[in-house]
Amino acid sequence: MNKKVLVTGASGHLGGVLFRSLANLGYKNLVGTDLKKKNIGKNQKFILANLKNLKAITKMSKGVHAIVHFGAIPIEDTQPNILQNNIIGTYNLFEAARINKVKRIIFASSNHAIGFHRRTTKLNEFSNQRPDSHYGLSKAFGEELSRFYADKFNIKSMCIRIGSCLKVPQDRRHVSTWISYDDLTQLVDIGIKHKAIHHVIVYGASKNKKSWWNNSRAYQLGYKPKDSSDKFDIHLLSKNEHKNKMALLFQGGVFTSANFKGDIKNIK
Ligand SMILES: NC(=O)c1ccc[n+]([C@@H]2O[C@H](COP(=O)([O-])OP(=O)(O)OC[C@H]3O[C@@H](n4cnc5c(N)ncnc54)[C@H](O)[C@@H]3O)[C@@H](O)[C@H]2O)c1
Repeated sequence: MNKKVLVTGASGHLGGVLFRSLANLGYKNLVGTDLKKKNIGKNQKFILANLKNLKAITKMSKGVHAIVHFGAIPIEDTQPNILQNNIIGTYNLFEAARINKVKRIIFASSNHAIGFHRRTTKLNEFSNQRPDSHYGLSKAFGEELSRFYADKFNIKSMCIRIGSCLKVPQDRRHVSTWISYDDLTQLVDIGIKHKAIHHVIVYGASKNKKSWWNNSRAYQLGYKPKDSSDKFDIHLLSKNEHKNKMALLFQGGVFTSANFKGDIKNIK
């Protein structure tokens, strides 16, 4: 791919992984951006910018074909911080894309957009959002924002509800939620290139037998995960959640029980 692709959050964990793996896949015109410069190679193009700054984001998305949007606070934080970085930041990014006629956006959504679903419920692309935190709410917002920009302005989008993207699973919950770096790269690549995409929600998960998600929409688009959590010995994984009965009930795990003032039996 010779067209320009912008990766936000390029100094972070997954943005950094994708910045390198997409280059290895043959993306020749990659530009990274982040509010700090970290782990960026000498030959890699990089722009320092804050997503809160619409003017800066508009300037750097000129001539861009697709944006891989991974820049965000990736965990729970205060409502003002999430509002500024994740909600306004993502709004700015889509606005900049509209102004500059960017064709596609791949949005790093999260399992925390659906975290208050029970673990016994198998979800698919049409399942209701059920955010479990301010963070999850910002991802639910991003999913709807991208649907709106697709319908209204024809900016195609793929939202990847990422489970747990790590080199290897570390916790028992990851048996259901893990996705490898290679499988995430494959999904992002499909999101950038697949002609049939208008707006789509897929699950960012490898081929895990104990998955809570029916990812058939991703498979229809040609996703063929190479990895699976099945090969890891569950007994070697941490039992982080096992003293937290509430976390064990819901897909979002410990995000659901933090600051919880509700009534579990009402969350069906
Ligand atoms: N790691 C996972 O398993 C996982 C799971 C679900 C979703 N995600 C999503 O994937 C994305 C990347 O997550 P990560 O684990 O690599 O997190 P990370 O913290 O390592 O990377 C996020 C990057 O975004 C940048 N950033 C934050 N606010 C910004 C702003 N206002 N302007 C510009 N840059 C800003 C940070 O500086 C950081 O480098 C996030 O959107 C996260 O919500 C990750």
